[in-house]
Amino acid sequence: MSEDKKVIFSGIQPSGNLTIGNYFGAIKNWVKLQDKYDCYYCVVDLHAITVRQEPKDIRRRTLEVLATYIASGVDPEKNTLFIQSHVSAHAEAGWLLNCNTYIGELNRMTQFKDKSQRYGESVSAGLLTYPVLMAADILLYNADLVPVGNDQKQHLELTRDIANRFNNTYSPTFKIPDPYIPKEGARIMDLQNPSKKMSKSSDNPNSYILIMDTPDIIRKKINRAVTDSLGVVKYSDDQPGVKNLMNILSVATGRNVNDIEKEYEKLGYAEFKKDVAEAIIREIEPVQNKVKDLLNNKEYLESIYKNGAEKANYVARKMLSKMQRKIGFVASR
Ligand code: AMP
Ligand code: TRP
Repeated sequence: MSEDKKVIFSGIQPSGNLTIGNYFGAIKNWVKLQDKYDCYYCVVDLHAITVRQEPKDIRRRTLEVLATYIASGVDPEKNTLFIQSHVSAHAEAGWLLNCNTYIGELNRMTQFKDKSQRYGESVSAGLLTYPVLMAADILLYNADLVPVGNDQKQHLELTRDIANRFNNTYSPTFKIPDPYIPKEGARIMDLQNPSKKMSKSSDNPNSYILIMDTPDIIRKKINRAVTDSLGVVKYSDDQPGVKNLMNILSVATGRNVNDIEKEYEKLGYAEFKKDVAEAIIREIEPVQNKVKDLLNNKEYLESIYKNGAEKANYVARKMLSKMQRKIGFVASR
């Protein structure tokens, strides 16, 4: 960890099983960043409880998400990997920032608007304020860059607003983070409705492929993926289903879509889909095996998250103290 490396922070909620969208769109890119940046990758369990979680499920998934980071090649020696609730500064800084955020700002968050419409009165207060916790996650580490998908851009804008406000109200404290959208950032779409992003929270299991899906299930789901009646493997917005499958094949094999288009010029969808499924399996099977090994080695996992929390805690505590001092709290020691 050298001083002059830029800092990256990102996290995934253990609120559902991870999909190949999380893998190709997020985790796989993290692997490419680990030598150039000082990276903090967190399993954001505090965020996950903004909606009801079954205790045994969130416990299992938290470890599974951490194991997936490592199995995908995110090296625990090069990055700081930790579980959010193990670093209490996140919740504390979240409170301090809550008092520097306006309700009006939170009410404008489109994700909150969508979800509160769906769940009505039973939406938790945490769901409204969670972007502030996200701001705390990022600002505690003075992150320069935050790799996030489009759906999180608005939250990152809010983070910047909160940071600027705090800096102006007190004195310069936080770096203003930028979103980091990787160049070849794959956006994997829903297999049943390719105008939507593939999501682990979809009601229809045929619309996503989980990182832990068995080869047979992967073959079935790809086979059932929506295409069109044109019958040509062409990279075109008029064929969103085929385009999505081409993207998946491209990120799974490292080949570009033009080559793929040429290769399948005279072949039908059946052949194409078969190859897409096999490419996913080839990429994902070694990851699955490593995840299983890691989950059977709880002591090793524990050593990773304990070590990560220790490193994260050191940095986060320092920033939290700075915030408290600027706000005017009496120092505790
Ligand atoms: P989420 O599962 O929505 O909490 O997202 C966690 C991370 O995975 C974020 O960085 C997202 O941008 C990324 N991600 C989730 N779904 C997809 C997808 N279908 N395509 C690309 N990236 C995704
Ligand atoms: N809110 C993000 C999501 O739902 C997860 C997240 C929490 C996050 N804290 C973060 C992402 C900090 C980047 C940086 O996907």
